[in-house]
Order: sequence, then structure tokens, then C-alpha cells
Amino acid sequence: MQLKPPFRWCGSKRRFAKRIVEHFPSEIHSYSEPFVGGGSVLIELINQERLVQGATIWLNDQGPVKAFWEVMTGPAEDFDDLLVSLEHWVGAPVQAYYHEWVSEINMVLDIDDYVCRFLLLNQTSFSGMWRVNAKGEFNVSRDPSKTVIRDITPQLRALRAALAEFNVVVDDCDLFEGGIYGADVIYCDPPYVETFSSYGKDKFTLDNHRFLDETLRTCASEACGSKVFLSNSDCLKTFEVYHPAAWTVLERYGRANSISSDAKTRKQQRGEVLLGLG
Ligand SMILES: C[S@@+](CC[C@H](N)C(=O)[O-])C[C@H]1O[C@@H](n2cnc3c(N)ncnc32)[C@H](O)[C@@H]1O
Repeated sequence: MQLKPPFRWCGSKRRFAKRIVEHFPSEIHSYSEPFVGGGSVLIELINQERLVQGATIWLNDQGPVKAFWEVMTGPAEDFDDLLVSLEHWVGAPVQAYYHEWVSEINMVLDIDDYVCRFLLLNQTSFSGMWRVNAKGEFNVSRDPSKTVIRDITPQLRALRAALAEFNVVVDDCDLFEGGIYGADVIYCDPPYVETFSSYGKDKFTLDNHRFLDETLRTCASEACGSKVFLSNSDCLKTFEVYHPAAWTVLERYGRANSISSDAKTRKQQRGEVLLGLG
């Protein structure tokens, strides 16, 4: 069974994952993805059997996304509780419960309840968007076209079973410490420089990007030897941080067809770039 990304996510690489992984080595023994989001690149690697059995995989993200990957790879009890909660809501009328889910996700919950509310809201909010106010409270409106909850539990079971073939570590420490240094392949898809940068209440600043650039260059140095890949928006500011003297442009994607005469489509499509080191 081909796995699919388990939830909708802003900045998802679902449409480009095949093109991105073409640049990766064909056999990967250890892999690090510190901004994993909905995991489209990780899942493409699993589907293509590019990660060897037993490979170590380090994942990281923040907020509910990180909690999601923790539950997917953590104790069976939390995962089973998540499935029971999700099954309870299958077919539920969204309009009747949306506000309840919003107020509950803003409370302190057990990890499985938190992830359950996240997945319910992801199915039913506008574009599956995750946006929080200055206090860190979720504040996205309901999408009126999403009327009932779908059953995503078979997909989650399949993903958990696939992940069980590997040694997965979801980092609980600072993003730039831990596994990122040891991996054969590191793929980073951080928030875009200068465009959309706030997935949580804190922005991912230019200084964060500069720090990431420095860290990744260390990872790709002869001493560490990782193959490093990074996606970001295809704009001048990106190249000011991820400097062309160090980074190679491997692929440009997400662009409007240059012969398209439809100005509206051209405007909507943002170009992205895949950069590489090592
Ligand atoms: C462009 S998205 C990644 C999308 C992912 N490649 C996918 O296909 O779904 C950027 C990710 O960075 C995460 N992020 C933002 N700031 C972060 C931080 N300080 N630490 C860890 N993750 C962060 C966001 O939550 C988001 O999932």
C-alpha cells in the first residue's frame, strides 16, 4: 500500500516530493528531517524503499505536528487511544462540534487527545491551516464545505506500521542539536524566508535561517559528511542567507509555466527551490 501524507499542511511538498527525492542517494542508512510537517518527503522515501530497513530517522517539528509524530512512533497505548478517539468522531457533524474542538485544543490535554483535536481541526478548518494568536490559541475558522468527519484511522495504522520498520527518534531537544549532526542525509524544509514564517506563535526569523545555514554547512563539512538538502522560496533573500557560493541549486519547482498567458495562475504559484550541500 502506498502511504499518503496523514494531514493537510501549509508548505507541504506533496506535489514535489518525487522530484525532491530524485536528488537523494538511492540507499539511505540514516535520515534527518527537522521540519517534517505532514511528512511528504519522508513518506515518498518510504514508498520508494530508499530508507534501508532499520535505518535511524530523526524527526522534528513543533506544536501539534511534533506531537503527531511522537504519537505515531511512541507507546502503543497513546496510539491506540488516539485511534479510539478518532473513531468516536467518524461521521460527526462538523458544524455542531467545531467550536468545542477549538476550545479543547487550547486547553492542556493528554498527547493523544491533543493530536486527535489537531487532526479533527485539520480536516475541517480552512485549508487545514494551523494559526495561533499571540497567546498561542488556535484561531482558524471552519470550512463550511467540510461537513462530516472522515475515517483516517486505516491510513494512520498503515503509517505507524511502516514507521515501525525503522528506528525513529522524535527530538525533544533544541532543533539544531541531536540527530541532525549524525545523519547520512538531512532534508530541511523550514518556513520560507520572508513569506510565510509563522506556524506557531513565534516567527522563524532571518537569524534562525542564518543559524540553520551555518549548522547545515557544518553537517556537510568533511568532518561530518552529511548530504544536505534544503527547500525554500526562490527569491533573492533566500540566496542572501543560503549563499550561492556554498549551496548548489538542484531544482526549481512550483513555478507557473512561463508560456502560460493566465496572469491569475502565474500570480498564485510561488516558485520554490531545492538547494544542496555535500
Ligand atoms: C514548509 S513546512 C514543512 C512542510 C513539510 N515538508 C511537508 O511536506 O509537509 C515548515 C515546517 O517547519 C515547522 N517549524 C516552524 N518553526 C519551527 C521550529 N522553530 N522548530 C521546528 N519546526 C518548526 C512548521 O511547523 C512546519 O511544519
